[in-house]
Amino acid sequence: MELSPNVTVLDHPLIQHKISMLRDKNTGTNEFRSLVSEIAMLMGFEALRDLPTKNIDVETPLETCKTPVIAGKKLAIVPILRAGLGMVDGILRLVPTAKVGHIGLYRDPETHEPHEYYCKLPAPIEQRTILVVDPMLATGGSGSDAIKLIKEHGGVKIKFMCIIAAPEGVKKLSEDHPDVQIYVGHLDRELNKDAYICPGLGDAGDRIFGTK
Ligand code: PRP
Ligand code: URA
Repeated sequence: MELSPNVTVLDHPLIQHKISMLRDKNTGTNEFRSLVSEIAMLMGFEALRDLPTKNIDVETPLETCKTPVIAGKKLAIVPILRAGLGMVDGILRLVPTAKVGHIGLYRDPETHEPHEYYCKLPAPIEQRTILVVDPMLATGGSGSDAIKLIKEHGGVKIKFMCIIAAPEGVKKLSEDHPDVQIYVGHLDRELNKDAYICPGLGDAGDRIFGTK
């Protein structure tokens, strides 16, 4: 599949190794949660490499120097509920001062269309770098609607990060939102007839929260 310029697959061996562990149906809830968090941190490290910085004066034991810190209104992490919640603490470990918004969407099991049930974003959203997180990008409906909602609330600088994506979801998201940088852990083969990603990892929300 030809990827558009706003899509980056983060094919670091550590990320790929942990994704392989996630896929295993014998990986239990506790380990699954830890892996999602670790992968989010590794991916976040790369996805946030263009965070703006400014120089401040710091006194070392030897002298005063100008040295960079993260500048301006900081990051907003916006998980898509439920499964996106599993990625938040990994990124908070990188940027502890980030604010966290929430968007609640669920996929209708028959139509696979997303339905919104919650939206709360940290102000001033228009001044923040916004990192939308969801482990799974399947049809792309949920990701695309979440970003549309954030834009309607004034969000401008938006990035989207998922652990596993289907080609269909990457295509939809990059076409609907060419201004959004998309970071993917692994690009899988296809969707099945129930719009599950194959080979995938199953239902991410259920595996994180132990609900099935
Ligand atoms: C899953 C997943 C995404 C969405 C992806 O959530 O976490 O949000 O499906 O599918 P799409 O790209 O086809 O929209 P789900 O709706 O199962 O809700 P949950 O996280 O509450 O389990
Ligand atoms: N949501 C999931 O959790 N898994 C899939 O494969 C597709 C959508």
